[in-house]
Amino acid sequence: MPTRRPVVDLKLTPGTMLGRRYRVEAHLGRGAEGEVYHVVEAATGIPRAAKLTPADRRNQRTAARIANKLEHLRECPIVLQYHHAEHVTIRRQRVVVLFSELCPGEPLQRFVDGHRGKRLPPYVALQVFYRLVVGLEEVHDAGEYHSDVHTENIIVQPRGVGFRMKLIDFYDWGKATRPKQQQDILQAVRVFHDMLGGRPHYAKLPGWAKYFLAGLNNTRLLKRFPTMAALRRDLEMFDWDM
Ligand SMILES: Nc1ncnc2c1ncn2[C@@H]1O[C@H](COP(=O)(O)OP(=O)(O)OP(=O)(O)O)[C@@H](O)[C@H]1O
Ligand SMILES: [Mg+2]
Repeated sequence: MPTRRPVVDLKLTPGTMLGRRYRVEAHLGRGAEGEVYHVVEAATGIPRAAKLTPADRRNQRTAARIANKLEHLRECPIVLQYHHAEHVTIRRQRVVVLFSELCPGEPLQRFVDGHRGKRLPPYVALQVFYRLVVGLEEVHDAGEYHSDVHTENIIVQPRGVGFRMKLIDFYDWGKATRPKQQQDILQAVRVFHDMLGGRPHYAKLPGWAKYFLAGLNNTRLLKRFPTMAALRRDLEMFDWDM
């Protein structure tokens, strides 16, 4: 029988101190076990993101592994920049807090939902997809993977002709393997599909978009794009008239 995991449900209000150095500004999100806040360093006013989970042994190990993974990937521009970890007691609950950069922009899902029909024009979706693929290729080149690529774990900020993007919420399922990296390829394609309005709009998409979606058939996709680098190269070379 699965054991119930402890969760934090703190609902911290703006102004609350998180340990001695950080003050809560706003709630950003909540997941299965934890909460994420926009905080500021009280002494400097510098904004950060703080991810809180109950400080049990399993979470402490997970936090350490994720922190090390982020540290290893610190030179990949798409990866959230990790700062440090702290143990804090709030209302008698021990929590482990991972502090990282506060990513400017908004979750990709919210950006997509803000558009007419809750979908992006194909060329705009293509730009986001390309940035994502370039970023993930660098993660793979560093010998890592993400494994939970979806529209809530990508923060986008439109800038000039393109987008600034950050990947958040890395997880650690052990060593990077080819199948784990291929999972990222399939998930990135799924993000492209979701930005375009999903299944109801598939039939009307231009041929080039369908080429990259391959009907979301995993076997066809991995045959066409066996690596993130292969996908990136095709994105740089494809023929608009296909
Ligand atoms: N560094 C950050 N900067 C800006 N917003 C963030 C940041 N980290 C998280 N968020 C926001 O908080 C939400 C939840 O964060 P995150 O994806 O890290 O955790 P989660 O999905 O709740 O966690 P888990 O999947 O581990 O239970 C995100 O979708 C995003 O909107
Ligand atoms: Mg998430």
